[in-house]
Parts: sequence; structure tokens; C-alpha cells
Amino acid sequence: MAAAVEPTSLTLTLTDEHLALQKAVRDFAQKEIVPIAAEYDESGEFPLATVRKMGEMGLMGIEVPEEYGGAGMDALAYVLTMVEIAKADASHSTIVSVNNSLYCHGLMKFGTEAQKQQFLVPVASGEKIGAYSLTEPMSGSDAATMASRAVLNEAGTHYVINGRKSWVTSGPVADYLVLFTMTEPEKGNKGISAFLIDAQQPGFIRGKKEPKMGIRASATSEIVYDNYLCPVENMLGKPGEGFKVAMTVLDAGRIGIASQALGIAEAAYEATLQYARERTAFGDPIGAFQMTQAKIADMKTRIEASRQLIYNAVLAKERGKKTGGRYTTEASMAKLFASETAMFVTHAAVQIHGGIGYSKEYPVERYFRDAKITEIYEGTSEIQRLVIARAELGLR
Ligand code: CAA
Repeated sequence: MAAAVEPTSLTLTLTDEHLALQKAVRDFAQKEIVPIAAEYDESGEFPLATVRKMGEMGLMGIEVPEEYGGAGMDALAYVLTMVEIAKADASHSTIVSVNNSLYCHGLMKFGTEAQKQQFLVPVASGEKIGAYSLTEPMSGSDAATMASRAVLNEAGTHYVINGRKSWVTSGPVADYLVLFTMTEPEKGNKGISAFLIDAQQPGFIRGKKEPKMGIRASATSEIVYDNYLCPVENMLGKPGEGFKVAMTVLDAGRIGIASQALGIAEAAYEATLQYARERTAFGDPIGAFQMTQAKIADMKTRIEASRQLIYNAVLAKERGKKTGGRYTTEASMAKLFASETAMFVTHAAVQIHGGIGYSKEYPVERYFRDAKITEIYEGTSEIQRLVIARAELGLR
């Protein structure tokens, strides 16, 4: 796909290719994901069949060049895809997001040619599933305080990895993972290294599955490493560069979560508009009442503001591809605002729907539960505010 973004431009262009992709993803998501979303939310089962179909459509490695198994599209294509999938079902979009940005993006940016052939091609093409493993039971926002360890063996051929990772999205089903663990604990965040992990190897143990409030069909679990032997050539980036890899990858990930939040908000908003036109009370459609109108106006305004912040982050990311510059602040602003918008909009959606908004027979209850995680994972709203303010103040 031709680059849609000029390095110095202030606007994004939705090319014919973008519009065609958006339509194809929307059609697929509405036809194949919407009908199963509630059932998979209830059972908590991983939707493998539709994930495989998304792989066939190129949606599991959207920005990965075709020679590495991806679709060779741009950052805007990723956002458009995420919004459409999230509108149908947030769980599916979580799986897409982790595969694309938390896994493939890191490999694209920091992987060697051999690593890309072995670990990127099968995941970008959707044959295998990728995951990202940073968080530990006692290390979430303070990501550098991890207890897990990787120690080089005497022969210098393998790192021996031990420890427990938590909240690993796609952990119960992942084939490959990017793992962050301490190689030189005395160096703090400069002692963290990143490793490419093969889930088939001994010492990789899938732990407790999290019984989550929302995004219930995206499987999340602990992973235990028990003397897992990782060949030295499977280190991603240089020794001690892991924290930088983790943070760089999260910049891309946060644009994905912002897009997910926008998709959830749009779904809740559209359901609300329809309901406000159809439901009558006191002899009028409830949309005729000013208290409903005020909510609808605020929902719509925040949704469009979120979209603009996401597009702003897309521009910064595309500029970064050319200049090597970071887009940390833009990604954090987009995630912060869009996730809080998703919470605001789904809350208002439930309120306007009244009793049926509280019922599992209607999807707004699921949108409300799904929205909450966007304020938490890939950096809480508090962390996004900290990242934005520190950059503005020139602090670290
Ligand atoms: N890109 C590149 N480098 C970065 C960076 C970025 N975005 N952010 C920080 N760095 C670098 C800094 O430049 C610095 O390097 P130098 O010392 O060489 O200059 C180094 O990393 C340390 O930076 P800080 O001093 O800012 O680090 P800190 O310890 O103060 O922490 C933080 C910063 C923002 C709080 C960070 O720890 C953070 O983002 N925490 C939240 C973690 C998070 O999002 N966790 C959830 C992850 S995964 C998940 O949700 C599960 C899932 O599967 C979806």
C-alpha cells in the first residue's frame, strides 16, 4: 500500500485502499464476529476459528512487510482495522492488537533476519499466535522491578530463565512470546533483556487463567518459567536493552488500545442512538428529552476528539518510521483520552438504555465491561498522565 502520510503533513488521507480495507474488515466483523460475541463472552472460550480467518485476511500482521508474512500496510490501516474489530467484539480486537503491536512490532524493529524468519513470519501470517510478557505479580506499572531472572549458563550457549509472569494476553494459546526479564538485576531497568520464547520448549508452563470482568474471550494467564533454556541467539535486541524494547513496543500498542477503545465507544454510541429514536416514554422518543440529548452530544464529541488524537498519533508514528523519532506522547494522549471516552460513553449508553442496558440480553452491558480494561492495560490512565506530563515538563 502506498504511504498515505507525508512526513510534514498535518492531515491523514484515507486512500481507496484504506477505504476498501475498512469495508472488508467491517463486513467480516459484522457478519462473522458480531453473531458469536456474546456466546464467547459468556463461555470465555478463545475464538480460534475467527482468529484464523483474520490471519487469512492479513489482519494479524498488518504493518509487517509481505516478505515477512504480513499485509505490508501502514499505521492508519492498523487503526481502521482495530476500530472495526473492536466495534464487533473487544475480545477479538485485543487478540489482534497484541499480535500486531506487542509482538510483531518489536520483532520488526529489533529482530535479526534469522529471528524474523523463525519468529515473525508464522505469527504475522496468522498461522501462529504471538504474546508479550512484561508484567509480574508484584511488577505492573513499575515495570522495571521484576523478580524473574535469566542467567547465562556456563557454556555461554543458553540463558536459564526462572520466574512467574502474569496478565499475559493470549498466554493460554500463544505459540511464541516476547519475554522481558532481568539479566543484570543490579542495573535496574538497564539490566532487563528481551527474549523470544517458544512455548513448546520444556520449562514453559501455562499457569492460572484469569477470570476477567471483560474481554473474556481473549485468553489471559500467568506463565511460569521453570529452568527454561533460551538459546543466546534468541535474545531480542542487545543485553540490557529490554526495557527500551518494552517501552518502544508499548508506544505502538497504546495506539492499538486507543483504537480498540474508540471501536467500543462507537458500538455503544450507535446502539444508543438507535434506542433513543425507538424507545418512547411519556409519549415521546427518549431522544426528544434534553437530558438524553446532552448525553448524546457529549458522547459524540468525545468520540470524534478521540479519533483525532488517534490520527495525530498515527501521523507521529508514520513520521517516526522515517526519522526514527519517538511518538510516545502522542500515543499516550490518544490512549488516555480514548479509553476514558470508552468508559464515559459505555456508562452513558447503559444509563440511557435503563433496565435493558443492565441485561446480558443486550450488548451495551458487555461494552461497559469491555471498556474498563482500556483504562488499565498497556499502561493505566495514571501512567499515561505521568508519561505525558514528564515529557511536557522535560522530566524523567
Ligand atoms: N521508548 C523508548 N525508550 C523509552 C521509552 C519509550 N517510550 N520510555 C522510556 N524509555 C527509556 C528512557 O529513555 C530511559 O532510557 P535512558 O536511561 O537510556 O535515557 C529508560 O527507558 C528508562 O525510562 P524512565 O526513567 O522514564 O523509566 P521509569 O522507570 O521511570 O518508568 C514508566 C517509566 C513510564 C512508568 C514505565 O515503567 C511504564 O510505562 N510503565 C507502565 C508499564 C505498562 O504499560 N505495563 C503494561 C504492559 S503489558 C500489558 O498490559 C499486558 C498485555 O498483554 C496487553
